[in-house]
Amino acid sequence: MKVFVGRPLVEPSTAEILAGHDVVFGAGGLPASEWPLLAAVDVLLPTPRERVTEAILAAAPHLGLVASHSVGVDHVDLEACRRRGIRVTNTPDVLTEATADLAWALILAVARRIREGEALVRSGSWDGWKPRELLGVSLQGKTLGIYGMGRIGRAVARRGEAFGMRVVAFDRGQSEEDFGEFLSKVDVLSIHVPLTDATRGRFGEREFRRMKEAAILVNTARGPIVDETALVAALSSKRLLGAGLDVYQREPQIHPGLVFLPNVVLLPHLGSATFETRLAMARLACEEIARFARGEPPLHQVA
Ligand code: DGY
Repeated sequence: MKVFVGRPLVEPSTAEILAGHDVVFGAGGLPASEWPLLAAVDVLLPTPRERVTEAILAAAPHLGLVASHSVGVDHVDLEACRRRGIRVTNTPDVLTEATADLAWALILAVARRIREGEALVRSGSWDGWKPRELLGVSLQGKTLGIYGMGRIGRAVARRGEAFGMRVVAFDRGQSEEDFGEFLSKVDVLSIHVPLTDATRGRFGEREFRRMKEAAILVNTARGPIVDETALVAALSSKRLLGAGLDVYQREPQIHPGLVFLPNVVLLPHLGSATFETRLAMARLACEEIARFARGEPPLHQVA
């Protein structure tokens, strides 16, 4: 079976599980220069950086499986895959705890002003302990709002309880009225929904106005769920206390307004970035390919 892997993965994954198959690695991003290689490919293994569009599918007429190295599949044109009878799989479960940890790293970093404190120490200008220096906010007794109670949302909620927070959630099936009430209650809002037509731009000026003043927003899901221009305005005017972002509206471009704000912590899409987790994701994507080659049913089919 001929397999095209979008870019090199953490090993041993392809080397072990796909031994015996003809595996070709791309340089990342699936540029048009790589499309001729897709002509004979049976399986494509993209990461979230490789957008699997109708044009890519047209360049790969023998494709039977897209085994994505990610839980989110917004980079894959699922409808086009369905139409062409191409199976699509993803890698849920194995990244739940790592992503929840990173959401909490951002919550703590913003609440306790880690970025500003670190910069102060490194600047060489810190001259010792002061009662009013870099005061953050306590989390104990505050309300953590989870937007999307899937696997990762639930794992973030569990950690919230350990930090003594009250946890509230907004999930599929709840009304707009419930959403407004949810927004008005939260001190920390953590986003855990997939990017879909329904969630794109879900958090903008109107939503920020409905939130408590001095709330913190954390996004480890997908950037386009948050309107960054509205977020910059809410943070600049101190309408929100701070934000922790791991994902961006036009990733990897960062809204210039975010870069200089002191009350924002910015990470380069590291949610699942532990060695153990990225290895498990790579192996799970390869396992889906091995099952496909053996004619076995998929473990995690999304289309
Ligand atoms: C995913 O899996 O969707 C993450 O964004 C990358 O780990």
